[in-house]
Amino acid sequence: MEYEEPLFFRVMKYAADADRDVVDMVSGNPDWGSPPAVSEGLHAYADTGGDDFQYPPSEGLRELREEIAARRGVDVSQVVVTNGGGGANYLAMGRALERGTGDEIVMTDPVYPYYPGKTTMLGGTQRFVVADDEGHIDPADVREVASEDTACIVVNTPNNPTGAVYPEETMAELVAIAEDNDAILVSDEVYDHFDFSGEFTSALEYDSPHRIVTNSFSKSLAITGFRVGYAIADERHAEPMKSRHMLTSVAGSRPSQAAVLHALRNTDPDYYEDTRALLRERIAAFTEALDAAGAEYTTPEGSFYVMARFPGFPGTLENVYELIDEAGVAGMPGAGFGESRTDWLRFALVTPRAQEAADRLADYFA
Ligand SMILES: Cc1ncc(COP(=O)(O)O)c(C=O)c1O
Repeated sequence: MEYEEPLFFRVMKYAADADRDVVDMVSGNPDWGSPPAVSEGLHAYADTGGDDFQYPPSEGLRELREEIAARRGVDVSQVVVTNGGGGANYLAMGRALERGTGDEIVMTDPVYPYYPGKTTMLGGTQRFVVADDEGHIDPADVREVASEDTACIVVNTPNNPTGAVYPEETMAELVAIAEDNDAILVSDEVYDHFDFSGEFTSALEYDSPHRIVTNSFSKSLAITGFRVGYAIADERHAEPMKSRHMLTSVAGSRPSQAAVLHALRNTDPDYYEDTRALLRERIAAFTEALDAAGAEYTTPEGSFYVMARFPGFPGTLENVYELIDEAGVAGMPGAGFGESRTDWLRFALVTPRAQEAADRLADYFA
């Protein structure tokens, strides 16, 4: 895949400029609001009156790293706080390539498009393994393409764009493949709080110097604008990742990290459960309307995206524009996620108008 301005922005601009009301199902910005402790933490930070307005430690506030380490059952030395999950993925993929044990990065198709983009930017070579119709990968396919040229295997569970949640066997085998090929498995788990299947298995379950787990608070606390994520890696990777982070970003944002720390300590598990319940309802309503529209689709096991295919209406950019103009619904063209889903469209269920959008689609395709 080419590295270019992500399609997201083009589609969002087209939808914003449209001459009619459009339901935006393109962006990945949660609409359900953050837990109150996020704002409280931010206010408390502001009220310190400037004493703490200077650089935080580059690898992240010590207390936040300790909180993450305690929650994830790892040593604090393994935690690097980053500028979102995006920053964590960049550091992890960069580290995998810098080891000099190969220049290939294996990823799935469909793929979260920033992985191929980052691969190219970091001077690596993209290798794709095609997922099945439900978005699952057969680890045997990964083993087949993995070789001494493999620097990294990057996966995402729960998955954007397919909604797949990889089972335990897949995760165990991916770690083993990375080990057998002297590569690094990067497991991007930014949607870990959005598992509806009960099957989610973090790669952290497998203690190995050949896996790096990346995560973020962007989605789980509905704060995509705060830019706080983290990577967990064996110290032999964590230390060079910290250096790369320092050289590229100097440090992260102290107010954001302070607010996240306060929110982690003061948010009831109900917040996450309520969000999942809300999304379950949206998924049910949306897929019901897709049935009415005669569409084929995958019901997400996790994350908050639905891929759908409408008969005789491939998910091209032209058709996405047509749906915006004629139906008033903006989705993403499947081609934005690789070659395997060019017939499909992706809809993000991060709008209170998901039901309305579904009805509009059902009417349009009726
Ligand atoms: C799979 C995946 N990884 C990473 C990110 C980026 O997360 P962050 O906003 O924390 O950088 C996203 C955002 O949509 C994503 O879908």
